[in-house]
Amino acid sequence: MQTKQWWKESVVFQIYPRSFNDSNGDGIGDIKGITEKLDYLKELGIDVVWLSPVYDSPNDDNGYDIRHYQQIMDEFGSMEDFDELLEEMHKRDLKLVMDLVVNHTSDEHPWFAESRSSKENSKRDYYIWKEGKNGEEPTNWESSFSGSTWQYDKNTGEYYLHLFSKKQPDLNWENSELREDVYEMMRWWLDKGVDGFRMDVINFISKDQRFPDGEKKPGVKYASGSPYFMNGPRIHEFLHEMNNKVLQYYDVMTVGEMPGVSVEEAKLYTGEDRKELNMVFHFEHMGLGDGPGGKWDNQPWKLTDMKKIMTKWQKGLEQKGWNSLYWNNHDQPRVVSRFGNDKEYREKSAKMLATCLHMMKGTPYIYQGEEIGMTNVAFPSIEDYEDIETLNWYNEQREEFDTDPDKLMQSIYARGRDNARTPVQWDASENAGFTDGTPWLAVNPNYKQINAEQALQDPNSIFYYYQKLIQLRKQEEIVVYGDYELLFEEDEDIFAYTRTLGKETLLVVCNFTDKKVKRDYIPSFVGENKELLIANDEGRSENDDLLSVWLNPYEAFVYKFS
Ligand code: NOJ
Repeated sequence: MQTKQWWKESVVFQIYPRSFNDSNGDGIGDIKGITEKLDYLKELGIDVVWLSPVYDSPNDDNGYDIRHYQQIMDEFGSMEDFDELLEEMHKRDLKLVMDLVVNHTSDEHPWFAESRSSKENSKRDYYIWKEGKNGEEPTNWESSFSGSTWQYDKNTGEYYLHLFSKKQPDLNWENSELREDVYEMMRWWLDKGVDGFRMDVINFISKDQRFPDGEKKPGVKYASGSPYFMNGPRIHEFLHEMNNKVLQYYDVMTVGEMPGVSVEEAKLYTGEDRKELNMVFHFEHMGLGDGPGGKWDNQPWKLTDMKKIMTKWQKGLEQKGWNSLYWNNHDQPRVVSRFGNDKEYREKSAKMLATCLHMMKGTPYIYQGEEIGMTNVAFPSIEDYEDIETLNWYNEQREEFDTDPDKLMQSIYARGRDNARTPVQWDASENAGFTDGTPWLAVNPNYKQINAEQALQDPNSIFYYYQKLIQLRKQEEIVVYGDYELLFEEDEDIFAYTRTLGKETLLVVCNFTDKKVKRDYIPSFVGENKELLIANDEGRSENDDLLSVWLNPYEAFVYKFS
């Protein structure tokens, strides 16, 4: 049985504050900049904002390295600015979900300063310290940001674990005092009135206490340690405890970011009877195009693989648990460049992709700029890039393997995180109206053609198409609660599926190619009461005979039968 919940009926908009809107001309987006744009978000029709970290941070990883959990980063403004943002959001009936980064802190967090000061310090055990093994690191694990996951600390002669950068030491969740401190901090934000948390790599917090080596591939120095920290031995116990001690007392929404999570695991994380989280972000579709060398080894992807993945999650969490739906975020390339066509068919394919995702079952997330069809960027030089993951990988490849720089740049153009982090393109004025100063990361040169001002003036824009999809979710219960069924599993061109609730059926059809294709459609629907809910092609009409359909390039439509 599925329950009805506000967070199942909501659409979430993700803000990456550094790149959203700069109100004071220092080139960095800020909180007042967000407050200025709330009416824009309201116009779009979203219900919830997920705000990437705004906490005090030395910005080794743009705020995902937190120095003080209860302070606002100077560059983003003050706590008064934050309180004002929250108040203005609530006035407009918008909810605010904060990023909760508690797998690690910054190495400049006061806990870590204490922890590294001596082996006897009361906070020593808040982090994960180990002795070296035969003069080397305690395990052969590789950091997500290249190199070892262990950093030697001369002062006490031990290594600390950092799954990400060496300025992001991992917290030790085995320590119950640390857990209580985290819970206390969460209560503090919830008592302030925030409406939930997006939890950063939350399925990494329980480490296998044996700390085994990973299995090494030939010719490389490090191995993946993920079997020993992804979905680790005590993860469900920790999340259940967090729910029991904190979350259950508030009417909030939770979503766990979970690389490497399976459907079976996700049922446990999101099953309502289990009282852990509301939903998770899985990454299976984000792995489409990964080659044997991982994400930087970008390869062509197949629509049948995408359908298999999406369908597995739709069916898997149908009655037990709940899905989140997303095409991109601040770590991923822009969807229209990745799965659509950002040239000739940019508008068409952006709308098609939106249709395909927003008609599925789950809570949709829109990443800033997606609603106007922002694209990937290809800056000429590595000097133009800012992202730590990109830069570390580039330097490692240059130094260790002497890889051709052009080849590296091609990978960065396809998969680098800065694709998503170029400033939001508000208008055609200098720096896309993002800042009066010099932006921290250059704007995408296509801002004169692609920007919010222009989108708001064009009734056929991608923006208004998203608005309509969001409205449909509010009007049609079937969009939220209907069951999903894939059609034409083997089709490499078309992603088509139905949703069913009671006597109603939705038929969703999306052409993922730049070709005209003909399909014979679903004879069983013909003759029933039929309504065209949305389409990205003017040629489509209520009276279309679905027996035999020509689809234009990147065409998408949704019919409702009742
Ligand atoms: C996932 C976040 O989305 C990413 O931006 C960050 O670098 C890592 N977690 C580490 O916090």
